[in-house]
Amino acid sequence: MLESHSHNVPRNIVLVGFMGSGKSTIGRALARKLVFELIDLDVEIVRGADGKPITRIFEDEGESGFRQRERQALEALAGHRSGKVIATGGGIVGSSENRRLLKSLRFVVWLSADPEVIFERISKNRDRPLLHTENPKETVRQLLAERTPLYAETSDIEINTSGLSMEEVAFGIKESAIHFFRCGGDPRNTGPLVD
Ligand code: S3P
Repeated sequence: MLESHSHNVPRNIVLVGFMGSGKSTIGRALARKLVFELIDLDVEIVRGADGKPITRIFEDEGESGFRQRERQALEALAGHRSGKVIATGGGIVGSSENRRLLKSLRFVVWLSADPEVIFERISKNRDRPLLHTENPKETVRQLLAERTPLYAETSDIEINTSGLSMEEVAFGIKESAIHFFRCGGDPRNTGPLVD
């Protein structure tokens, strides 16, 4: 099993991916399955802003204010070594320092989805200030093009969630994480885990 005992290597599961890729929902299911604590960074950001919703943070402080809060919330996790499922916001990979911090928490899973599936999922709510544009579909296309290489660079594996159930995705992540931690984070090393 995936125990969080005294290893030097942190044993968290970090979920990255575009808006609408299912990070929060899958994070909840996965945390339940593994008996890990769920940390949803967007929730932490709102908490750190005394309950101010993300759309209001963007209105009052701009995207840069939001990104500063996002960095602080991520840095606050650096001391938490193991036993967490960490769901992140879609834009967290935009800074190299964030990417470094995410990797240090490892194991990083990129939840991807086909662009049409993403658009279908996110067009259902208005809580995403970055998509309050004249042409949200084009905005999604541009952001996806910018971010795709960054998700790839930051993550240990990619799971395309299009057409998969939440249970299937959570199961896939759990099995991959067990393998990843067992081989010390190096998939070429398939020998027994040595402490
Ligand atoms: C953002 C994604 C949102 C939230 C904020 C910015 C982004 O989180 O952090 O609106 O830059 O893609 P989700 O990915 O959970 O929607």
